[in-house]
Amino acid sequence: MASVARSRTIRDRATLVPSGRPALFLPLLIMLSYRHAFHAGNHADVLKHAVVLQLLRYLGQKDKAYWYIDTHAGAGVYSLKEGYATKTAEFETGIAKLWGRNDLPQLFAEYVDEVSALNADGQLHFYPGSPYLAWRQLRAQDRMRLFELHSTEIDVLRHNFRDAGRRAMLYAGDGFDGILTLLPPAPRRALILLDPSYEDKRDYGRTLRCVEESLKRFPTGTYAVWYPQVKRPESQRFPDQLKQLQKDNWLHVSLTVSNPPEDGYGLFGSGMFILNPPYTLAKQLKDQMPWLVKVLGEDKAATFKVEYRGN
Ligand SMILES: C[S@@+](CC[C@H](N)C(=O)[O-])C[C@H]1O[C@@H](n2cnc3c(N)ncnc32)[C@H](O)[C@@H]1O
Repeated sequence: MASVARSRTIRDRATLVPSGRPALFLPLLIMLSYRHAFHAGNHADVLKHAVVLQLLRYLGQKDKAYWYIDTHAGAGVYSLKEGYATKTAEFETGIAKLWGRNDLPQLFAEYVDEVSALNADGQLHFYPGSPYLAWRQLRAQDRMRLFELHSTEIDVLRHNFRDAGRRAMLYAGDGFDGILTLLPPAPRRALILLDPSYEDKRDYGRTLRCVEESLKRFPTGTYAVWYPQVKRPESQRFPDQLKQLQKDNWLHVSLTVSNPPEDGYGLFGSGMFILNPPYTLAKQLKDQMPWLVKVLGEDKAATFKVEYRGN
């Protein structure tokens, strides 16, 4: 676990510059339309971040160092009270429904504890993105490597991590290409999160190729791929394509919160596909996902799936 002092330093910085405010710097890269702040803390983030937390804690059980690599890092911390997040209030479909409950099963209780660490007064002001969540798990021997292509998001991320020192290296650039230069990581233990927005449908193919290439360089790494459930054919066939990446030792979990919206391409669920997962996670998810469906489900179509192919 990162030291309390260091966590506070980052939290305080993040509080000063939540994502959603205009960047203070000139754009360095091409502009993208995507801002994760619109979606911060929604039902898909709940699933993704609860799973990522378990994967990191599992890696932290051994003294040996690990790396956390985030190919699509985002801004690191998000304000839920101002800026983009308030426009859509998607967090009300996710973290807000878990907040303050006293019947949380272990996996989701640990996740909510992490969100609480950012919200000391008990009010839901801030939401941790994957970099912040990971940072709090990092020990002195561990390292993180973050890629972010969006010019303003990388500036906010840099600001939030400006006191992190050499344990956290941030790259303004393409995570699909960048990750290949880092593999295999020196300690030969790592969690790699691939979390594109998929607003560009080429992200599906790029993610598959990226994992395929990464596995050649680092076959024993743990890879976690997030994907959206939307009406797009690319999204529908994606889980089956992910299953082709490796014959066994994978875990697939999905959470569907509602019927597909009739008016187009809205998100009605999401999934996490994990290569080389901890063998304990499938059972935890099978036991605890029914609770999540009950809490986050929006209509009769709400359901979950856990598929596990051990080795
Ligand atoms: C879903 S968000 C990431 C959220 C973050 N992983 C989290 O869980 O808090 C996707 C991010 O990827 C960025 N992005 C888009 N294309 C990228 C690329 N090719 N390489 C790196 N970042 C990219 C977007 O600007 C956006 O901030």
